[in-house]
Amino acid sequence: MAIVDILEYPHPVLRQKSEIVTQFDDGLTSLIVDMFDTMDSMKGIGLAAPQVGVLQQIIIISFESQSFELINPKILEFSGKRDIQEEGCLSMPEVHVDVVRHNTIKVRAQKRDGKSIEFESDGMIARIIQHEVDHLDGILITDKGLPK
Ligand code: NI
Repeated sequence: MAIVDILEYPHPVLRQKSEIVTQFDDGLTSLIVDMFDTMDSMKGIGLAAPQVGVLQQIIIISFESQSFELINPKILEFSGKRDIQEEGCLSMPEVHVDVVRHNTIKVRAQKRDGKSIEFESDGMIARIIQHEVDHLDGILITDKGLPK
């Protein structure tokens, strides 16, 4: 268990695309545990592996009573209405921008043991997943932010 450094904009790693995870081993589990420790220490609600300098398709979410990781997440469908909400990012302290996201998404991903899952998500959790999946493509909230 360890709290690791979070890379901040304009660190170039934040602009790179993450690789697919192929090894579901102890190294993956300890990375996920470190990511949770780090995110919790910052009172964050989501974190993507590139934010801790690891270009692998791993995101974690912790919102209200739900805490989970998604490995190799893919958003299969965007639906529902779109809404606007202010977002922040642990890699961009002090920055807050309004971002349009879909309310409902269908997601396919894997768990830390490699098991595949598919589910629908809406509201805040769907928003966090969309934000974190953007990190895996090197996309930051300022790329999507609406002018104030
Ligand atoms: Ni972020």
